[in-house]
Amino acid sequence: MTLVVKDLNVAYGDTQVLWDINISVAKGEVIALVGSNGAGKTTLLRTISGLNRPKSGQISINGQDLTQATPAQRVRLGVAHVPEGRQLFAGLGVRENILIGAYLRTAGQEVRRDLDFMFETFPEVAARRNQQAGTLSGGEQQMVALARGLMSRPQVLLIDELSLGLAPVVVEKLFNLIRNVQKELGIGVLVVEQDVEMAFEMADRGYILDTGMIVKEGRGEELLGDDAIRKAYLGI
Ligand SMILES: Nc1ncnc2c1ncn2[C@@H]1O[C@H](COP(=O)(O)OP(=O)(O)OP(=O)(O)O)[C@@H](O)[C@H]1O
Ligand SMILES: [Mg+2]
Repeated sequence: MTLVVKDLNVAYGDTQVLWDINISVAKGEVIALVGSNGAGKTTLLRTISGLNRPKSGQISINGQDLTQATPAQRVRLGVAHVPEGRQLFAGLGVRENILIGAYLRTAGQEVRRDLDFMFETFPEVAARRNQQAGTLSGGEQQMVALARGLMSRPQVLLIDELSLGLAPVVVEKLFNLIRNVQKELGIGVLVVEQDVEMAFEMADRGYILDTGMIVKEGRGEELLGDDAIRKAYLGI
């Protein structure tokens, strides 16, 4: 397994928000993480990338323990995080925003080659490479955020709220792009997604997080076919 999270507990002060979380993401897998507002999805992603400290539990990548590593060390070891709300530098150009993802890399030629790959992968963004990031559409901004994440050459890409503010047709397109890139680069993807139906359709496996606990996991189609899940999350 590329990414393994084991018995993870996370609290803000005295308030525990994640309880005994066990999840894994293998190379070549797209994993969907769904759950209602406040369930702890962002907290989980932030803890994996080292922005929150767990109370207990382990996080490892390719068998290497990351639990005590700094966020920068985790980027070097292969964790990239596309944060909720994208967090682009609105006043900087598209190209500069994407290059920020390569800030720990020193091989200039390789970085330039990867930048070209991003522009091939996301042609809408290539056409706007010199435009200020804040002037792009929501879907284009999400592509810039994805490209920035990929520029660190991750083993695992964490994506928080892929669909935030985007039309379903745009989300579907992004999912397809992620699939293609993921196959080409052979990485694992953990994506937090509000659109449960789309998430389980597009993902290999999924986890449902409910008030800080994983209450269900399975293959995408299994979860989609589960009556209790259909009632609770799809309203059908
Ligand atoms: N920095 C913080 N300090 C205290 N409590 C926090 C902090 N960040 C999050 N929380 C609380 O932790 C819980 C989980 O929040 P989190 O943002 O992880 O949920 P989420 O599943 O990502 O929700 P959403 O779908 O709304 O993005 C919430 O009850 C939230 O209020
Ligand atoms: Mg969140």
